Amino acid sequence: MHLEIWTEKYRPKMLEDVIDQKHVVSRLKAWVKSGSIPHMLFAGPAGVGKTTVALCLARELFGSNWKSNFQETNASDERGINIVRGRVKEFARMKSMGSEFKIVFLDESDALTQEAQQALRRTMERFSDSCRFILSCNYSSRIIDPIQSRTSVFRFKRLNKESVKEYMKRIAAGEKIQVNDDALDAIFEISEGDLRKATNLLQSSSALGKVTKESVYDAAAQSKPEDIRNMIESAMAGKFMDARKKLYELLITQGLSGEDVIKGIHKEIFDLKLAEETKIQLAEKIGEFEFRLNQGGSPEIQLEALLAQFMKHGK
Ligand SMILES: Nc1ncnc2c1ncn2[C@@H]1O[C@H](COP(=O)(O)OP(=O)(O)OP(=O)(O)O)[C@@H](O)[C@H]1O
Ligand SMILES: [Mg+2]
Repeated sequence: MHLEIWTEKYRPKMLEDVIDQKHVVSRLKAWVKSGSIPHMLFAGPAGVGKTTVALCLARELFGSNWKSNFQETNASDERGINIVRGRVKEFARMKSMGSEFKIVFLDESDALTQEAQQALRRTMERFSDSCRFILSCNYSSRIIDPIQSRTSVFRFKRLNKESVKEYMKRIAAGEKIQVNDDALDAIFEISEGDLRKATNLLQSSSALGKVTKESVYDAAAQSKPEDIRNMIESAMAGKFMDARKKLYELLITQGLSGEDVIKGIHKEIFDLKLAEETKIQLAEKIGEFEFRLNQGGSPEIQLEALLAQFMKHGK
């Protein structure tokens, strides 16, 4: 079984290929030309290109070894700032490859408390010789002034109908699938300009056959919480490939994030008919894998590994 997640497959690699966000892209292109960038704050709703643009920027600045000069971390929980500090420190210490600086990309910065943001500001200052920080957030108003004043703020807009359609057509061409105009309208209506949602919806509705207005609405309605329980039960019954398939359905068809899935698993675990001891062991594993996800681990790999743990504790 080969499953590809279209949100990754079609994520633009160069700024040139980013849809819309012209005001952002043109300013960034100028920075790339100069070879240096300031600390930045990317603000805007979900699925409009914040992470994508940061990745493009890293590729254009660093070329083929961009990965060793780019670090992505999620800042969204209480432990966040300590993780960030530890990781940034380690990352900053390693010599950068063919560049004067590295990029630290911090997702969900606005989830940090005020105190955590103060600590983040100190971290930014401490490492500003070797690292440029790009903070991503939904609302810039939740970011403390001292950080706002030290960053160039870029506002990402929700994508309009034409842009969503353009991107969907790009994917449809790549996958050689037929999508009619009504279907595209439906995808736009449901996704509300969130390209991640739109892409997942296109992928899941195409799995049901031809993409029409009807298949789009069908796919959108197919979001069931018991799917997580089925996945756990499959894993514990030793049916790993079934469990894995269900995992990909959750990530692709339902468009859940790795964190959503792990939270769902955590909720379900206590309702399962299992020995107390087993529940405790599994709860520990869940904590461990949640931590790894927060550290930037790939959701597919980490969740598959977690399912493998469930299999061990099953029959
Ligand atoms: N402007 C854009 N141009 C091309 N693709 C985009 C654009 N915005 C989003 N996408 C696509 O949508 C998906 C999600 O994009 P991305 O990860 O950049 O969102 P984000 O703004 O970082 O969202 P979040 O706030 O949830 O982290 C990716 O598959 C990406 O290719
Ligand atoms: Mg993002």
